[in-house]
Amino acid sequence: MNRLHLHLTDDQGWRIEIKKYPKLAEISAWRDETIVGHYRDEPRKFDGQSHGGFYTHDDMREIVSYAKERYVTIVPEIEMPGHGQAALAAYPEISCTGGPFKVSTIWGIRKEVYCAGNEKTFEFMENVLGEVLDLFPGEYIHVGGDECPKDRWEECQKCQSRIRSEGLQDEHELQSYFIKRIEKFLNDNNRRLIGWDEILEGGLAPNATVMSWRGEEGGIAAAREGHDVVMTPYSHTYFDYYQADPENEPLAIGGLLPLEKVYAYDPVPAELNEQQRPHILGVQGQVWTEYISTPEKAEYMAFPRACAMAEIGWTPLDRKNFKEFSKTLDHHLKRLDQLDVNYRKL
Ligand code: ACM
Ligand code: ZN
Repeated sequence: MNRLHLHLTDDQGWRIEIKKYPKLAEISAWRDETIVGHYRDEPRKFDGQSHGGFYTHDDMREIVSYAKERYVTIVPEIEMPGHGQAALAAYPEISCTGGPFKVSTIWGIRKEVYCAGNEKTFEFMENVLGEVLDLFPGEYIHVGGDECPKDRWEECQKCQSRIRSEGLQDEHELQSYFIKRIEKFLNDNNRRLIGWDEILEGGLAPNATVMSWRGEEGGIAAAREGHDVVMTPYSHTYFDYYQADPENEPLAIGGLLPLEKVYAYDPVPAELNEQQRPHILGVQGQVWTEYISTPEKAEYMAFPRACAMAEIGWTPLDRKNFKEFSKTLDHHLKRLDQLDVNYRKL
């Protein structure tokens, strides 16, 4: 494994200091309380405790250099145009309605998104990304792009006037306009944009790389258009899913992704031809943390599934064999024991 993708911003918290926007650390990094139990439980319960924190620039530099010594490149993610409610709690002027908002205390998709019609939004993003570029030397910058409801844009005069002035068909093309504009900024700064597969909707930015999470379709479509792809389908790569019968497992978001299923995944879809296959750069495991509040639980969810993920990233198909892998894993688990990694016991 040679990349660590850090999802640094979301509706429930903003986790990176940005000097130009101090309220991101003062306000956006903190939520009043957190939902307890599952999001779908009725009635919803909350813990009544403030929760938060953020990485300083020095923290980030330390992480980048620690990773570099181990040949790992950090891919930082700054989400846009959706999943921005934490930032909007501090800077409501770049929303469509003007707010007020609070940092979200529940999970799921929020309707409060950045206004795509307001020039201030782009100024904000470019200033934020400017600091991110200084901290992270890797070529890829992740801009999210997933799960952006269009409700506010449909009602917003600025967004609607942008749609008219740019000759766009609809709000999906407005999202595409947003991402293309950010891509130009990143490319002008010698970086490449990567985003979740929704960035295909309304037209892919010319040089974008796609993370295909809703399935393989987005990745296949992008590779066919000549774009690079990282395979991240939730069915086989979401480590926030249960690893076994939920009866006997700590609370998770849902789903079921046992070790065997991770290992069985082939990241290169059979639908792709010889020219298209090299566009599949690799595969990534996702450790979303709505239901993971301690480092020990993060280790529990990530291991040993991350070991299977590492194997499928480089093992030729004709060498894949779960029994063999299991034997190798027995040895590897001893290493994890030495490192005190709280992996799930098989
Ligand atoms: C995602 O899981 N929304 C990328
Ligand atoms: Zn708007």
